Amino acid sequence: MSKFKEVADRIKSSSYTVVFTGAGMSAESNIPTFRGRNGLWSKYNPMELATPEAFRRDPYKVWEWYKMRMEIILNAEPHEGYYIISKWEEKGYVKRVITQNVDGLHYRSGSRNILELHGNIFRGRCISCWYKVHFKEAPSEIPPRCPFCNSLIRPDVVWFGEPLDTETISKAYEEAARSDVFIVIGTSGVVYPAAELPIIAKQYGSTIIEINIEETPISVYADYVFRMKASEALSQIDKYID
Ligand code: OAD
Repeated sequence: MSKFKEVADRIKSSSYTVVFTGAGMSAESNIPTFRGRNGLWSKYNPMELATPEAFRRDPYKVWEWYKMRMEIILNAEPHEGYYIISKWEEKGYVKRVITQNVDGLHYRSGSRNILELHGNIFRGRCISCWYKVHFKEAPSEIPPRCPFCNSLIRPDVVWFGEPLDTETISKAYEEAARSDVFIVIGTSGVVYPAAELPIIAKQYGSTIIEINIEETPISVYADYVFRMKASEALSQIDKYID
């Protein structure tokens, strides 16, 4: 039997399938990944752009980088693989999408039960008060300021050295433990605590399916590995899902 059909059958008979995505999920939508030869971290220093210290030192520089990324994302479209995941949710197979991505493409492609572990690039929050803002487009004046207290607004994403939102990561742990099929797509599996999720799922007896063009630390314990692009693997599996 083809591995695609086997996995499709596993998904169809599952009671709680969870999809867990990283930057590789958006690569085919032309949004750059972080690691690897053409990754963002090969061109930019994360310590100068994605830490609270960097923001204190030079908020303009940090916002310039986020603005550039927002523009790339706004010009991007979710690829076929995204729509397959949202269709599986609509059919009741996928119960939760957990993503490390801040690009919002899961929402745009129709998925609804989403946990965004690292925040969302289109949200901003005041560094001093309760104010939050949703950006429809990249802010024209940077760094943006709070309309209430005039403090700086920062991107509502998780930076290096910052904890994840407690409620969100706790829920993600629960979902990983509860899953009976856990599909890991396009993550290098090296950034914690997110990288713990497939390990937890495995420990609780879930079937782990990895889709990634390269080997990762997850590959050794995954039950099925599809060494191919996200959209390709998802559409092959989808052929057997009615
Ligand atoms: P990475 O850039 O570390 O890894 C991307 C993964 O996607 C790699 O394992 C690639 O082999 C794989 N990949 C690339 N193209 C693919 C494709 N078309 N189909 C399938 N797989 C593909 O991205 P993440 O693992 O998401 O954190 O990185 C985790 C976190 O590190 C990010 O959320 C970000 C970053 O620093 C924060 O900003 C807090």
